[in-house]
Amino acid sequence: MAEAVRFERVGMRYHLDAEVLSDISFTLESGSFHFLTGPSGAGKSSLLRLLTLAERPSRGRMLIFGRDTATVSRRARPALRRRIGIVFQDFRLLDHLTTAENVALPLQLAGGLDPQTIRAHVTELLRWVGLGHRLDAYPPTLSGGEKQRAAIARAVVKKPELLIADEPSGNVDPEIARRLMHLFLELNRLGTTTLVATHDTELVEAVGGRVLHLERGRLIDIEDRGPLRNPVTGARITEADHRAPPHGMADAGARTGPTEGEGR
Ligand SMILES: Nc1ncnc2c1ncn2[C@@H]1O[C@H](COP(=O)(O)OP(=O)(O)OP(=O)(O)O)[C@@H](O)[C@H]1O
Ligand SMILES: [Mg+2]
Repeated sequence: MAEAVRFERVGMRYHLDAEVLSDISFTLESGSFHFLTGPSGAGKSSLLRLLTLAERPSRGRMLIFGRDTATVSRRARPALRRRIGIVFQDFRLLDHLTTAENVALPLQLAGGLDPQTIRAHVTELLRWVGLGHRLDAYPPTLSGGEKQRAAIARAVVKKPELLIADEPSGNVDPEIARRLMHLFLELNRLGTTTLVATHDTELVEAVGGRVLHLERGRLIDIEDRGPLRNPVTGARITEADHRAPPHGMADAGARTGPTEGEGR
């Protein structure tokens, strides 16, 4: 099976400070789903920043989609970066655009879709995350949990090949956290390799799967908590493999549409 991510004895430091990550080695197979946990300050966000190409390893090797990121040219980095969906710990929505416009942005940048199709898809996705009534609201008027859901919708709207989420359930109540995780799992089933950093042990317990444990900058354990489960229904689900449908918009609505998530 192809690898989406490979770390080989990666170390990382900010400026000339001491290393915040040391000797990190692991692989994420294409289509796999992993959690990343560890106490505050363990280095979770730092590790995710490496994966989103916001920082570079200070030693070791990092491969994304089979490419050694040290050898990717400056010009090629944006294209690589566009294959990755990111949910930032601090959301980073654009305040001068509405919620729907924020979520539509990645699709508009990708091109090839007419505005009506984009609007329909964005509306459906925002309904799914429980923001159907806030489509035209501006981010400064959203609550913390609403911003988080908008940020998640923006990260998944293009069905990225790799999804990186930093504490995606940090600001929402447990029921919404489970629905958001369900959305990630649906996306994963369609082939998106997924890595979710979280403190939420209850959620990890409800979902299962593989868990990377960081402590003081070191990867101390990769735990297998058994088959993935839908945190809403408790039913078992299967991880994606390479027979998953190709990425694209075509079936996004069908899989993540309101029918499955509504009913609250
Ligand atoms: N921009 C930065 N410059 C210097 N040091 C930093 C920077 N960002 C983080 N650090 C340090 O790196 C270490 C790891 O921080 P990181 O944010 O990766 O932890 P975390 O596991 O995400 O924590 P949390 O659960 O609180 O989000 C900490 O010691 C932190 O102080
Ligand atoms: Mg963090």
